[in-house]
Amino acid sequence: MDSCALNGFLAPAQRERLLAAVPKRHSVRSYIGDPDVSGLSALHYAAARFCLPGARLMLGEGNPEALYRKFPFVPAIHGTRRFAAVIADMETPHADLHAGMCGEALILEAVSMGLGSCWVMAFKRNGAEIELREGEKILALIALGLPGEEPGPFRRKKLNEICQSDPSNWPLWAYNAAECVRKAPSAVNQQPWRLAFAGRTLMLSAVRGTPLDLGIAMLHMSLGVGEKPHVIRWGEGKEIASLVAEDRL
Ligand SMILES: Cc1cc2nc3c(=O)[nH]c(=O)nc-3n(C[C@H](O)[C@H](O)[C@H](O)COP(=O)(O)O)c2cc1C
Repeated sequence: MDSCALNGFLAPAQRERLLAAVPKRHSVRSYIGDPDVSGLSALHYAAARFCLPGARLMLGEGNPEALYRKFPFVPAIHGTRRFAAVIADMETPHADLHAGMCGEALILEAVSMGLGSCWVMAFKRNGAEIELREGEKILALIALGLPGEEPGPFRRKKLNEICQSDPSNWPLWAYNAAECVRKAPSAVNQQPWRLAFAGRTLMLSAVRGTPLDLGIAMLHMSLGVGEKPHVIRWGEGKEIASLVAEDRL
């Protein structure tokens, strides 16, 4: 099992800020405008900062009608032209998981600035004028703008349903990490993650789900641990990654 680039990805102050944004985040599909100039420059800075091997973010601008596909019963995204393209170089190992981590970090940063966001995998490739390098692919767009709607009901599985043993018997850091994963967004709200705890190790595994969903969950798992020092290692097969707590705290 090798170490994950998520280790050391964020400075302590950033971790604290992003963790505080987790309960405030929800998907926003109705916007009342683009981010203002200072918001945009902060987003550009964050997008350039949140990159991991094989994954990067690029801000773009376009007409929402040309960018996003429409589905029955899902409100169309409207009211903002700004988005971030979540890009992966498919030849780099774990690039798609890294892309999920980077995109979710940008979303939580945007929430901490008072902006709304929505992950969108159902986008129209031709609507997003983003230059790609050889081997790269846009995995998703993230709509970004001034939120024009309140959060809807919080629809998630119970914590017990995503944990393989009773999380109330786990140490607090592992319980908090699992709760933070539970709050993560996922495509079609599938919540494809499962967590198991043993010794000092919290394991994240996948039940279907897209690599983006699992990268997002990995970021949430790491943030949820709070200040507890830890190392994340890649797993094998259905086990995506393990978070091993260090005994220093
Ligand atoms: C990888 C990913 C892809 C998504 N794609 C879309 C999409 O194409 N269209 C859309 O309206 N919402 C999309 N969503 C938003 C999810 O439907 C939403 O996160 C989920 O229903 C949970 O709701 P919440 O984000 O408000 O907590 C996507 C979310 C993720 C994580």
